[in-house]
Amino acid sequence: MHRRPSEELNQRNASFDNRLRPTRFSDFVGQQKVRDRLMLAVEAASQRQEALDHVLLSGPPGLGKTTLAFILGEAMGVHVKTTSGPVIDKPGDLAGLLTSLEPGDIVFIDEIHRMQRSVEEYLYSAMEDFVLDIMIDQGPNARSVRLELPRFTLVGATTRSGLISAPLRSRFGIVNRLDYYAAADLQTIIERSAAKLEVMIDNNGAHEIATRARGTPRIANNLLRRVRDYAQVRAGNRITRNVADEALSLLEIDPRGLDEMDIRILETLLHKFNGGPVGLNTIAVSVGEEPDTIEEVYEPFLIQEGYLERTAKGRVATPACYKLLGLTPVTRSGELPL
Ligand SMILES: Nc1ncnc2c1ncn2[C@@H]1O[C@H](COP(=O)(O)OP(=O)(O)O)[C@@H](O)[C@H]1O
Ligand SMILES: [Mg+2]
Repeated sequence: MHRRPSEELNQRNASFDNRLRPTRFSDFVGQQKVRDRLMLAVEAASQRQEALDHVLLSGPPGLGKTTLAFILGEAMGVHVKTTSGPVIDKPGDLAGLLTSLEPGDIVFIDEIHRMQRSVEEYLYSAMEDFVLDIMIDQGPNARSVRLELPRFTLVGATTRSGLISAPLRSRFGIVNRLDYYAAADLQTIIERSAAKLEVMIDNNGAHEIATRARGTPRIANNLLRRVRDYAQVRAGNRITRNVADEALSLLEIDPRGLDEMDIRILETLLHKFNGGPVGLNTIAVSVGEEPDTIEEVYEPFLIQEGYLERTAKGRVATPACYKLLGLTPVTRSGELPL
């Protein structure tokens, strides 16, 4: 088979991801609260020998939503069938998927916010009453057929929880949001991944990579892979702080883990709007990104890192943001900033 290079790269990335993907709760680092809640739900459902309640996982990309869906399957001892919102474009697709399940199975719908509304409406009765009323034929012959479904668990993942409709959201019994990881958790993830990849790494080396990973395990693993190439060729397959720093500087990875869009948002806030306050929509238009992507994917990290604040009047740059971009903070009243 002939594949385009980008496809090949994606496949390689996918298998790399899979190799490092934790398969049990005990290997899933961080996100303590989410983990505890899910473990409890699994234990309770297993004791009652019931299917797990429907689970909605939201949060920025690369934080472990897909990983958790598979961990849930493993923990419940059921199959996990995966699909994604944009792929199911007619009710028939949904019917095909749901009628193929065994009791207790998990259906993982990634990017569930991108599902068509017309399909989503069928999901309501499927989730609640485990039936699908499908219309067959058209015009005078049109009639609806009721399909009974096995009790299944829907695990939905979304990066944009704000786009999930209220009726859909209310049908999930367990709703969790994943947050950016602390550097210490990322460090643990990097150390475990390094062991699996059979490259030596010391604490400082892992810490250096962790601080540049934008709070995101997927980025941490990707950076580790790049640093590992460098270590293999230039440093006897050992990753120290210096080796990590040299490798990541060579790749022009921001020392604080900020990506291009992060920087663009902060620059816009500072240069175009004098540090704010400025409304979300105005920022969105300026940087050419959807407002809810900015709100749900970019801002949480910028807020966590202390570069930006949300106020009643709009977004405001913090002194740390001025410092980051090499400017002296000015305050409206002329006072020196804290
Ligand atoms: N809590 C975690 N502990 C260890 N590794 C993790 C964790 N969360 C994510 N990862 C790693 O990051 C990669 C991306 O996670 P994934 O579940 O695909 O993110 P999402 O579905 O939220 O975009 C996984 O393949 C896994 O290697
Ligand atoms: Mg995913």
